[in-house]
Amino acid sequence: MDKTQAVQEPSIQVPALEVRGISKSYREKRRELPVLKDVSLSVAPGEFVSIVGPSGSGKSTLFHLIGGLTEPDQGQILLQGQDITGKKGHISYVPQQPALFPWRTIEDNVILAMEVFGVPVREVREEARKWMHRAGLGGFENSYPHKLSGGMQQRASFLRGLLGRQEVMCLDEPFSALDALTRSDMQHWLLNIWEENKRSVLFITHNIEEALLLSDTVYLFSSRPATVLHKVKVPFPRPRREEIAEDASFLALKRELTQYMREEQKKMLEGSR
Ligand SMILES: Nc1ncnc2c1ncn2[C@@H]1O[C@H](COP(=O)(O)OP(=O)(O)OP(=O)(O)O)[C@@H](O)[C@H]1O
Ligand SMILES: [Mg+2]
Repeated sequence: MDKTQAVQEPSIQVPALEVRGISKSYREKRRELPVLKDVSLSVAPGEFVSIVGPSGSGKSTLFHLIGGLTEPDQGQILLQGQDITGKKGHISYVPQQPALFPWRTIEDNVILAMEVFGVPVREVREEARKWMHRAGLGGFENSYPHKLSGGMQQRASFLRGLLGRQEVMCLDEPFSALDALTRSDMQHWLLNIWEENKRSVLFITHNIEEALLLSDTVYLFSSRPATVLHKVKVPFPRPRREEIAEDASFLALKRELTQYMREEQKKMLEGSR
């Protein structure tokens, strides 16, 4: 091989996040519930990846494993090639339930992730207030979580994840409690921020249109125990326009993925009888 050829070889890129052969069962008394079976996926640096799968299939469990909140029976979680299996604090994580601390004000909840990273307090507060205003939480900085609606709490939890300084962000249905218009605003917002900063994102959603609008790659999970059923490269150009959702090619792909999901959902429901 001559020198020019060597230069043209694509360099092997270490994934920002790699889930390698993960299996997990929950054990309660004498019952064993297999939840994840040999799940592998990866997020390249700056990539936006979504997971879509039936309810109860094991998606949040996978995030608990990535976040180090629980340990797998088999497999590894790698962050930039380093094994972080069972270790906490390496990713920015927005859980499915907002999980705000009830004794901290909304602003103090939002700044938590930056505080942990040792960003100077004055800087942190300024940044948090700017974002809270943009997310429709202006005026609620000093309120406590129980005074906010479910959707407002979800936005505060989303902001907390967004303002974390980790390179990889894992978002578990961050917009599920929002009305269609607010959801669409938040999606745009996330897309803009992502296009500016190109953080690596792993995003769980039930909404196939949302997955196709936001992602570079979509993984479809099977019914429980979850395996990767399909990996779909999303072919639409960036920056993504909202109107893309009306294109024939978008609608055809959406229909195809919806059909797959219907079949999996049916298997889940039949299995639970
Ligand atoms: N800590 C736990 N102990 C025992 N079983 C659990 C635990 N956490 C989750 N499960 C079970 O594991 C399965 C997968 O749950 P998980 O929350 O991962 O699903 P999901 O795909 O995120 O669902 P949804 O889309 O509804 O959020 C469910 O049957 C659930 O009851
Ligand atoms: Mg879940």
